[in-house]
Amino acid sequence: MKVTLSVIKADVGSIAGHHSVVQRQLDVARSSLARAKGRDVINDFHVTAVGDDLQLIMVHNRGVESRAIHDLAWKTFKEVTDKVSKPLKLYAAGQDLLSDAFSGNLKGMGPGYAEAEFEERQSEPVVVFMADKTEPGAWNWILYKIYADPLSTAGLVIDPKLRKGFTFRVLDMEEDEYVDLHAPEEAYDILALIGTTGKYAVQSVWRRSDGEVAAVSSTSRLSLIAGRYVGKDDPVMFARAQAGFPALGELTDPFAFPHLVAGWMRGSHIGPLMPVGIKDAKCTRFDGPPRVAALGFQITDGKLVGPVDVFDDPAFDNARREANTIADYLRRHGPIMPARLGPQEMEYTSLSEVLKSLKHRMKKPS
Ligand code: F6R
Ligand code: MG
Ligand code: MG
Repeated sequence: MKVTLSVIKADVGSIAGHHSVVQRQLDVARSSLARAKGRDVINDFHVTAVGDDLQLIMVHNRGVESRAIHDLAWKTFKEVTDKVSKPLKLYAAGQDLLSDAFSGNLKGMGPGYAEAEFEERQSEPVVVFMADKTEPGAWNWILYKIYADPLSTAGLVIDPKLRKGFTFRVLDMEEDEYVDLHAPEEAYDILALIGTTGKYAVQSVWRRSDGEVAAVSSTSRLSLIAGRYVGKDDPVMFARAQAGFPALGELTDPFAFPHLVAGWMRGSHIGPLMPVGIKDAKCTRFDGPPRVAALGFQITDGKLVGPVDVFDDPAFDNARREANTIADYLRRHGPIMPARLGPQEMEYTSLSEVLKSLKHRMKKPS
């Protein structure tokens, strides 16, 4: 049976600043999706939050980019905004709902989404990764490690089903165009693009032996949609695990290194991506450090079994410790590059207003 997994997220307001959602927001979202399940729009769902981002994890049989599913997510975010975020005057209520005129598809509307349709295997483990205070390019290093680095994913060497490698669909988020590149032989080309994390993001990955989808990520950039800074994109990504795909532990192992990502305070800094359990998925110190949480499920007969909270595990204690050490080190730089992002990325932030206000005081040396 073919199933579609849709993970759709938005920041529609949070408590005490850009921090975390409140229980009533989760409740309203859950009851909206429960009604949709009752109407057979979706088969099953799980609602959670990572920091200030509300996450709708849904399984259904409607394929990707389905009008019914995008409409459901949009209406759910709207309802949470109108029933909870606005009456409670939560901070940045409705922030990611960038337009009033929803036309049936979330592309360019603000919410981020990752979706894939696939034949449910005899046993179908999946892991959903959700980040706060960073951008889609944050997955680039992770996805390369998982699907192209045999020093990280042992299955690329040991398992005949993985040895043919994976195809990376790399999206140019500025030009809205993509290229499909094949690992291992085009590994250098993949890295040539995805090293520029603000422009290129890995949109999806397929297994080359049979074209089965392995992983999908959300690639919307709020600043490119709105033309100004409206919070970081806080991307999601999911991956199918085991039996010819990387094992759960091969999906998670790269996160043991808290690599540097763009985002953190005012979306203007680099910071370490810290893997945490859902209970710690809230950005406090300097609005960070950027976090990633992961929930594992089985998709069984088109429904969700789970979740398990994957990074709620002492095996990631060292990563968290290292992330905090890196955060200490980076914070000592203040707003000085490269701890603060470069001029191109800062263009969309309020720094451009500050620079404009100083322009008329600039003098040519006599
Ligand atoms: C980062 C983020 C926050 C805000 C910061 C200032 O994605 O959303 O770091 O940029 O808290 O927010 P305002 O300008 O709303 O006070
Ligand atoms: Mg926010
Ligand atoms: Mg957020």
